[in-house]
Amino acid sequence: MPFPKEFVWGAATASYQVEGGAFEDGRGASIWDTFSHTPGKTKNGDTGDVACDSYHRWAEDIEIMKAMHLQAYRFSIAWPRIFPTGTGEVNPAGFAWYDRFVDALLAAGIEPYVTLYHWDLPQTLQDRGGWLNADTAKAFAAYAAAVAAHFKGRVKYYYTLNEPQCSVGLGYSTGVHAPGFKLDDATVFVAWHNTIYAHCLAAEAIRKADPDAKIGIAPTGRICTPATDSPADIAAARAATFAVADGEWTFTYTMALDPLCGRGWPNVAGGQVQRVINAIPKEQLDALPLGRLDFLGMNIYNSIAVRAGADGKPEFCTRPAGHPRTAIGWPITPEAMAWGPRFLHERYGLPIFITENGLSCTDRVHLDGKVHDPERIDFTHRYLLALRQGIDAGADVRGYFHWSLLDNFEWSEGYNERFGLVYVDYPTGTRTPKDSADWYKQTIDANGGNL
Ligand code: FCB
Repeated sequence: MPFPKEFVWGAATASYQVEGGAFEDGRGASIWDTFSHTPGKTKNGDTGDVACDSYHRWAEDIEIMKAMHLQAYRFSIAWPRIFPTGTGEVNPAGFAWYDRFVDALLAAGIEPYVTLYHWDLPQTLQDRGGWLNADTAKAFAAYAAAVAAHFKGRVKYYYTLNEPQCSVGLGYSTGVHAPGFKLDDATVFVAWHNTIYAHCLAAEAIRKADPDAKIGIAPTGRICTPATDSPADIAAARAATFAVADGEWTFTYTMALDPLCGRGWPNVAGGQVQRVINAIPKEQLDALPLGRLDFLGMNIYNSIAVRAGADGKPEFCTRPAGHPRTAIGWPITPEAMAWGPRFLHERYGLPIFITENGLSCTDRVHLDGKVHDPERIDFTHRYLLALRQGIDAGADVRGYFHWSLLDNFEWSEGYNERFGLVYVDYPTGTRTPKDSADWYKQTIDANGGNL
């Protein structure tokens, strides 16, 4: 059975992961330039200096998207191309590049879905404290306003932030992402709060600049699925999905979406975090309603099964030995797509886009010159079937964006992980659509009715 009539089929990337052109046309440095150029921070010392070179090969990329019949493309704008130092004067050359890109997408009939912050914070703002400084939130709102005003009538869909769970959790707590800090929980929460505050101010700024714009956010987080279909297991999985345990609160949807959907800041019981929450200035608390969302994004890769313990309390199930996993080692759990959107839709009542889903494989060019990736086809097929179940069970899911269009710079994993529907030979920049690209095209043509 096909997916709902207006369902949107797309693919996603992010600026630092694909663009390259890191020093061109007045682009300022971002925290990812600094981080990736710091020895020991990324695999093989890889950087995004060139990446997929989409900065120069964008027309070819759009041809590929067109040939795949993509209906939508989620990409991010590099803040330091627009404001090289984060604030102040706009860099016209930065807008000029995105103008060409957006106009070509529209001419190809591909709807742009723009992420405003996919982790490449201008280094100048980091030098002033980054997300530990509430002024960064104000700078973000000014940048968002400039973008929304500039693309009014051309870009309709915005995601303010991609995965604060990672930019804050991995950036400020575990230190494996830029800016590479390992701070205590209370301080991490300051960065978290300023990030959510930034979303709120930006959402207001976008609505002022372009009242027709639709605003979302693209978080990720732990999804728990019921071990069986029993009501007790379902209740336990739901509770565990939204629980904000001390020490694990960053990797939750709850910490991003509860405050933005009228539920206030969750009670991170007893921890240091609660003291910080209690000290949030009134003006900043009052800003939360400004962050109201038109839709939710969900970046879904995997989930963990949960059952109801003797007292109904959630118990995590251990995965059996040899459980399927992707090349990066992430578990393959299609049921994440059946339950995650369902739980989030129930709790927040908003339409959902799957803003990311995919896997890395050890893809290579085969003797026949093609890239055969049956793993990706099987994975995506399973996840989409599960998504279909979630939709049938009531989740209001409006679209699916595969991560990623292209193999690209996978943050601290460098170029080691290939997530693309299209293979990229990094030394030459040559693109080869994988078998999965053709399969995805057929799926799009059939609106999922082939699955
Ligand atoms: C997500 C990120 C995205 C990409 C995928 C594999 O956490 O949003 O940029 O790295 O994982």
